[in-house]
Amino acid sequence: MNRKFLIIGRSGQLAHELRRSLAPLAEIETADLPEFDLTDSDRIRAVLDAAAPDLVLNAAAYTDVDKAENDRDRAFAVNADGPGSLACACAARKIAFVHFSTDYVFDGLKREPYTETDPPGPLNLYGLSKLRGEENVLNECDGALVFRLAWLFSTRGNNFVHKVRSWAAKNAVIRVVDDQFGNPSWARIIAASVAVILAGSNNAPKTDLFEWARSVYGLYHLASSGSASRFDWAAEILRRTPVAQERQVRLERAKTIDFASAAARPAYSVLDCGKAERTFGICASDWRRHVSLALEE
Ligand SMILES: NC(=O)c1ccc[n+]([C@@H]2O[C@H](COP(=O)([O-])OP(=O)(O)OC[C@H]3O[C@@H](n4cnc5c(N)ncnc54)[C@H](OP(=O)(O)O)[C@@H]3O)[C@@H](O)[C@H]2O)c1
Repeated sequence: MNRKFLIIGRSGQLAHELRRSLAPLAEIETADLPEFDLTDSDRIRAVLDAAAPDLVLNAAAYTDVDKAENDRDRAFAVNADGPGSLACACAARKIAFVHFSTDYVFDGLKREPYTETDPPGPLNLYGLSKLRGEENVLNECDGALVFRLAWLFSTRGNNFVHKVRSWAAKNAVIRVVDDQFGNPSWARIIAASVAVILAGSNNAPKTDLFEWARSVYGLYHLASSGSASRFDWAAEILRRTPVAQERQVRLERAKTIDFASAAARPAYSVLDCGKAERTFGICASDWRRHVSLALEE
């Protein structure tokens, strides 16, 4: 193992799983707040020069979708400008760069899975800031891969799985919307897929990681297979949560309009991952299996 990877956003749910999945492939170094701020471009350059990694993975982001509506400058600094600076600094040093984006770049009006060539149309500032981030990264670095993810969950952090389980611990009835559709994706499986993709670089004709990244440069969708409404997803979580079964917690259907939220969300943001499957030979399995495996932990 003579490669070094730098993971930005150490304590986030995806970064945590990336550290675990990528450890067999390279020496891992991490950077996160407060000692590393993605919005500080001097610090970015200093950290890259000190660490001298072969690859940087940016799993840091401003991920509070509702808060971003009233915190535009910070959301854009972290999600758009920061990744652009990082990509630029990587390109200047010939460091391969992996960045993550979101299904919320889409407006949700399509009713079949979105491909990478579908035009984006974010409904909220988080989605717009992430879209600008993708564009900045791909403009700044010709050795960059951007993976759009969707409906990420893990057994850590304040994600939908955690929320449903804590609602179930306190309430007899839970109401969840059945008019938003996406791909629930376990962060561990996403990280494992990234590990498979990067391991593939070892077999590529170009052994230099930056040259390999140049050969596969671009935007990819990466998610578990199968789609679900938030209601379907909550039902599966409750089915796998013994305390909810014991307490016979009832799940009721609701509509997006029933709940006030600062940010609008796409009604449908299911991702078509065919391009990643064809390019890297990966094969995603069904989200229900991932919920079950995650909750067995
Ligand atoms: N969560 C989802 O449902 C979802 C869906 C689709 C795509 N994605 C994308 O997937 C990626 C990973 O998401 P995640 O859910 O793992 O995120 P997360 O758990 O919210 O973690 C994000 C990390 O970024 C750090 N961070 C925030 N601002 C920073 C800054 N200025 N400098 C350095 N670090 C900073 C956070 O630190 P603090 O905790 O201290 O703020 C946190 O450790 C992101 O690009 C996200 O947009 C997420």
